[in-house]
Amino acid sequence: MNTEQMNMLVGKAILAREQSYCPYSNFAVGAALLTDHGTVYSGANIESASYTPTVCAERVAFFSAVHAGERNFSAIAIVGGKKDAPISSFTPPCGVCRQVMTEFCDKDFTILLCDGSEIRSYTLGELFPESFGSDKLR
Ligand code: THU
Repeated sequence: MNTEQMNMLVGKAILAREQSYCPYSNFAVGAALLTDHGTVYSGANIESASYTPTVCAERVAFFSAVHAGERNFSAIAIVGGKKDAPISSFTPPCGVCRQVMTEFCDKDFTILLCDGSEIRSYTLGELFPESFGSDKLR
């Protein structure tokens, strides 16, 4: 990915974060998921009063895309931080979201994190090595 593409995806994650529903944690997260053919699906975290039904921004983006018929993804940008405050630190994806990424993405899938100034680029293989995927069930 070139710098312009990375900035574009992070920008969409920042916009998506505005739709976060996070009255319990007050931690707002946005994600923007890029398909192989250039469509972007976004998501924000959606919380619940009983806590456990809470869904992370990344999974909202993935499930929205999969429900729209998408199966091939190249990158996701993730941003998070205190609601109504500027982003000031990196928000890496939780373990459950890494598992969901593993369901649909190869090890070279790009994960972009931004702290409001710097963008860091990782692969899924770096952030979730030795994962349990569908190949183990064959
Ligand atoms: N959260 C995400 O949306 N994505 C992550 O990768 C980390 C955590 C959300 C879940 C919850 O609504 C809030 O952030 C605090 O954990």
